[in-house]
Amino acid sequence: MAERNPQSGFAIRKALFVWFGMAIILVVVSMLYIGSTGRPRFIDRNLLPSEKALSIYEIANSRFKNTTQFQSNNCNPEDAILKLYMYDLPPEFHFGLLDWKPEGDSVWPNLHGKIPNYPGGLNLQHSIEYWLTLDLLSSTDPTRSNPCTAVRVTDPNQADLVFVPFFSSVSYNRYSKVIPPEKISLNKKLQQDLVKYLTSREEYKRSNGRDHVILAHHPNSMLDARSVLFPCVFILSDFGRYNPNVANLEKDIIAPYRHLAKTYINDSAGFDDRPTFLYFRGAIYRKEGGNIRQELYYLLRNEKDVEFGFGSIQANGINKASQGMHGSKFCLNIAGDTPSSNRLFDAIVSHCVPVIISDDIELPFEDFLDYSEFCIFVRAADAIKEGYLMGLLKGVGKERWTAMWERLKEVDRYFEYRYPSVKDDAVQMIWKALARKVPAIRLKVNRLRRYQRFGRGLKESGDDGNFPIISGF
Ligand SMILES: *[C@@H]1O[C@H](CO)[C@@H](O)[C@H](O)[C@H]1NC(C)=O
Ligand SMILES: *[C@@H]1O[C@H](CO)[C@@H](O)[C@H](O)[C@H]1NC(C)=O
Repeated sequence: MAERNPQSGFAIRKALFVWFGMAIILVVVSMLYIGSTGRPRFIDRNLLPSEKALSIYEIANSRFKNTTQFQSNNCNPEDAILKLYMYDLPPEFHFGLLDWKPEGDSVWPNLHGKIPNYPGGLNLQHSIEYWLTLDLLSSTDPTRSNPCTAVRVTDPNQADLVFVPFFSSVSYNRYSKVIPPEKISLNKKLQQDLVKYLTSREEYKRSNGRDHVILAHHPNSMLDARSVLFPCVFILSDFGRYNPNVANLEKDIIAPYRHLAKTYINDSAGFDDRPTFLYFRGAIYRKEGGNIRQELYYLLRNEKDVEFGFGSIQANGINKASQGMHGSKFCLNIAGDTPSSNRLFDAIVSHCVPVIISDDIELPFEDFLDYSEFCIFVRAADAIKEGYLMGLLKGVGKERWTAMWERLKEVDRYFEYRYPSVKDDAVQMIWKALARKVPAIRLKVNRLRRYQRFGRGLKESGDDGNFPIISGF
């Protein structure tokens, strides 16, 4: 007889109830995990490409963490997103070039004493080597009072990347002359010595340099060594004077120039408070690639409210150039000898909307920042058409201009070099940009090791490196 057993009916209801309960718990848990943003909450924020995504992460995270604690007031190696091993190169490669003399047997200045100055004037625009090295040195200082993005580690096996503290820009700027009886300049000799040093190191050999970070912000720095050190990650101002096999956007980092104009602090000078419509400062006649400047000059010189400041910011006086940019709505950036210049960064910190006419320019942190929010890009071929540029800029209007100006006031902090560095300044932005390269570098290095560990060395291992012509040695 199929008489219903009350006991088994109860068991079925109980089982259904349990299943239903588990389903509800699963739904609730998954909603919590995904969060209202539709993004998983527990993600590596270094992998997030845009600033907006970052802030979503931070909002989500703040529900769990007391952010005051999270941004601990010194450098906590656990919070740093990049671990760097730094070679203790002799002082002649770094602070010695700033006329610093070592005391005792330390190759580094005592950060609690007087910190050597970087030479001023135009030298400063390429001073990234100085700010990055100081930040790394201070990352292990127990008295450091601000959080860090990168931390220096003493064991190369613990490091994400290896940092090479050669101040190549100041070496080029100050030591390029051959002084008899020497046959070559100090700049050239240091590069030769650096190559010998690096290529003899185990840390270099194990990756063939791929995880090494080389500073070469001045377009002419590392001219002799670059083609040998091509597998390394370069930190550059642009790729204008590089063979694409040696430097490219895939493996290298573009860093901002250190601006020379004054940052416009508490800027309340909006559209109607900036009398100059379009401002340009720089040399009009350039040796190479600068023809467009001349053409634009002849097109624009008779336009109303267009101001040309000739010569470098030095010749003009930093105050005068700052005033010019602080009082202008738009600032022109025209390609010169190289696609980039410090002028763009002067315009950004002056909150003068940059108008970029440089087809080959590459911009810092562009995997994070959308420059079209605060810059106007014009193709060179269009810019020299009669009436085109002024027509375009006149059409922007007060409302759109003001939106760009507001954005400039938010982003200017990404372009400030400081020591001690602060959150989201240029130093920490460069470290973050490097951290975003680490997974791709690790992939390359690990692939390289497939046959290396027990094989016959690099060149037979199927390494993809086509060794370019080695010049200068
Ligand atoms: C967060 O942590 C800081 C430092 O420990 C503490 O002073 C502050 O009161 C905390 N804030 C909250 C909201 O818990
Ligand atoms: C900017 O404004 C703040 C707050 O009003 C003030 O404390 C600071 O001194 C100002 N800075 C400059 C350079 O004017």
